[in-house]
Amino acid sequence: MAPARAGFGAPRLHYRLTDSTNERARELAAAGAASGTIVTAGEQTAGRGRRGRQWTAPPGKAVLCSAVLTPLDARHALLPLAAPLAVCEAVESLAPLRCRVKWPNDVWVDERKLAGVLIEAQPPAWAVIGVGLNVSIEPDEFPSDLRRPATSIGHGVSTEEALAALCRQLDEWVEADRARILADFRERDALRGREISWVGAGGEGGDGSGVADGIDDRGNLSVVSGEGERLSLGSGEVTLTLSD
Ligand code: BTN
Repeated sequence: MAPARAGFGAPRLHYRLTDSTNERARELAAAGAASGTIVTAGEQTAGRGRRGRQWTAPPGKAVLCSAVLTPLDARHALLPLAAPLAVCEAVESLAPLRCRVKWPNDVWVDERKLAGVLIEAQPPAWAVIGVGLNVSIEPDEFPSDLRRPATSIGHGVSTEEALAALCRQLDEWVEADRARILADFRERDALRGREISWVGAGGEGGDGSGVADGIDDRGNLSVVSGEGERLSLGSGEVTLTLSD
């Protein structure tokens, strides 16, 4: 029988400053690091977001964490949905906030982005789950060019408390079964019923706009186009914009 996996958070490698914790964690994963290993940083000089975007945060005011999960198997097929759910439950265990998820993996509070998740994987060997979670960033410290203002946990929560809660919830959610992940995601779905537009969907999707209609059992986003056609968008391929 395979040995039980130790929880996320041990061992932990912390950098005061690094380019990207995902980069450091990828190196560790490729070198055979144990599942549960995390890399954290006080500050990143080249924090990566989804689709080639940058991720920035002032020093010490956000959780910047990349967790190694290895090996991957069929149970982890919905990891891109499970990881933001772990972030939601971690935040809600610390502060009186209600988190929702903007498919595929942005965490929102009151229509503002609180956290983002960037998963980089080499299946079936490993995945790195990168989480940027704003903890105590003041409104005027966010970049001024954000389309929508971002937000932080606040409520006197520290980055170490937020990190510990995140690790606890990752332990639970990476092993959660499909039905639970899909049900919880559907409850927290911030897009359902809203006008969206997208670019870069492969196959039938192309670029387009329509109304989000929930996620299907594979974790893809269902949308109904202006012409009434139902399409399925895969998370790896689209950039979404909310029209309202
Ligand atoms: C997104 O919303 O686009 C995803 C952002 C993910 C940012 C985190 S910060 C810690 C980890 N290291 C990185 O370089 N990126 C992720």
